Amino acid sequence: MCGLIGYNGIGQAAHFIFSGLQKLEYRGYDSAGLATITDGLLQYKKDIGKLEEVESIHHISQLPGHVGIGHVRWAAHGKVDQVNAHPQFDEGHNIAVVHNGIVENARELRCCLENTHSFVSTTDTEVIPFLLAQYYHQKGSLIAAIASAIAELRGPFAFLAMSCYDPGKFFACAREMPLLFVSTPTGYMAASDVNSFPDGCNQVYTLEDGQIAEVTSQGFVFYDSTGSIIEKQPEMLARQASAIYVNSSEYYMMREIREQPRAVEQAIEQSAADMQAAAQAIKEAQNVIFTACGTSRHAALMGRYLFSRISKRMSEVIIGSEFKYFSDAICQDSVVIAISQSGETADVMDGVRTARTKNAKVISLVNHHASQLARLSDIVFPLKCGTENAVAATKSYMAQITVLTLLSHYLAGQQHDILKKLKDIIPLVEIAYETNLKRAESLARYIAKYNACYFIARGSNFHIAMEAALKMKEVSYVHGEGMPAGELKHGTLALIEKGTPIVAICPADYTFDDTLCNIEEAKARGAFIIGVSDKHHRIFDVWCKIPKVDEILYPFVAIVPLQELAYFTALARGVNPDRPRNLAKSITVK
Ligand code: AGP
Repeated sequence: MCGLIGYNGIGQAAHFIFSGLQKLEYRGYDSAGLATITDGLLQYKKDIGKLEEVESIHHISQLPGHVGIGHVRWAAHGKVDQVNAHPQFDEGHNIAVVHNGIVENARELRCCLENTHSFVSTTDTEVIPFLLAQYYHQKGSLIAAIASAIAELRGPFAFLAMSCYDPGKFFACAREMPLLFVSTPTGYMAASDVNSFPDGCNQVYTLEDGQIAEVTSQGFVFYDSTGSIIEKQPEMLARQASAIYVNSSEYYMMREIREQPRAVEQAIEQSAADMQAAAQAIKEAQNVIFTACGTSRHAALMGRYLFSRISKRMSEVIIGSEFKYFSDAICQDSVVIAISQSGETADVMDGVRTARTKNAKVISLVNHHASQLARLSDIVFPLKCGTENAVAATKSYMAQITVLTLLSHYLAGQQHDILKKLKDIIPLVEIAYETNLKRAESLARYIAKYNACYFIARGSNFHIAMEAALKMKEVSYVHGEGMPAGELKHGTLALIEKGTPIVAICPADYTFDDTLCNIEEAKARGAFIIGVSDKHHRIFDVWCKIPKVDEILYPFVAIVPLQELAYFTALARGVNPDRPRNLAKSITVK
């Protein structure tokens, strides 16, 4: 998703910005651009494509000047083309802006401005420099212009602006989106993602509620949304290094699948006091609602199951983007458990803000400590799995289900038993990985020839069917559909033909016999059955063997061969599994 960086200091701005943007590549983007100021004039280059492509054509890292702003864009408003890449400018090319987020009222603003100005792009962003220019001419100050312009913008945003009207500075402003500031040995930087700062920059300032920052070569001056100076204190940020990679020729997704035993090991280390406090709040709550998107939502489905099974506590899972439609039932006695790897997903944040306005208690599971979600939560459980670079979530999911398993047992007062069981599962996750690697690779060659693959399971394993289907479609573009095994005969069975691949997650637990009946139904229609189980059955065409584990812990081992299967199917189709088309790592727009 979009990322932005600004630099002001004694170094060459473009160099620092370019290397910061490279660290944002994992988020996914389709164009890049950079602007600097030299001799009072704006210079810029931008284009579609990956950073190295834009660099090889335009040499953006070589733009001269000590002040600059840069951007990687993931198109939301306006197609992917050079004109729509950032920076965007006012009509006179005196103000440059890079922007994350969506201007929700861009159409109305454009209509008003179009009477007197001509837009060149089809982005929502372009209204920002236009408004800044209009207000600068009225007020004579860029801070005052920003304060007036943002009063007109609807929706969450973070932007950086730079102008030849005040060439020694850049400006920054954010509302409900991350924007962070650090001092570095050579200057002062702003960025939307802490990962883009140089190592060792751990004292971080953040902006909230439309606050504005002026970044000079001497430091930061902060303003509130009306343009009055405010004081800010930096926070110490504990940055987490990613695991060391063994083989650098591999894709991130496979490395991260392999890091999962370590993800469990690290996620187990949670504050007992926070666990107790969260368990108490959940016990006392009138209703308990999980909210999340994508893979994190699948982890939430496991949480819902565990709360019911272990703690006898009924809960609900509401997709982030749907949360607000249920807000009538949220009150101060509600507990909302928000799950998000990035802590930035706009749909989740939207729900969490709704919950906060209702005074509900917010508990979050999040990997990025400096995220908006962590900041808005009453209790935060860090996932501690290090940077997840692949767009497909793997190790963060493993960390999420670890924390949820712990929490459900705290809720039932059984925390001591589960700690040992979770520690015992670590080597078994590794065994699930090793045992299935070759099999998944050859099976992938079969699946790669089909357009669709179905995943079925029951009970505690149902969410694995959903998660495996998401992984398959996301990275290989083979349509994946996951469902409770019992649902197959209520519609999807019509799609089963000779050879159609069906993955049945059916460990030798209380779901085995019932799932087998559904497998028989599919087999009778010619389906090719891939059984994921610790127990072999003659009906399987291929058996992905997983270790025998405690009944509620099968998801920890069952998901691993299915992540491998998705990965190898992508390779078999010649697709880069780390960078699925049209997707980004963190989705910061609604
Ligand atoms: C997972 O493989 C996906 N890339 C996606 O569904 C992701 O889980 C979702 O966008 C939520 O992200 P979050 O955990 O950062 O909130």
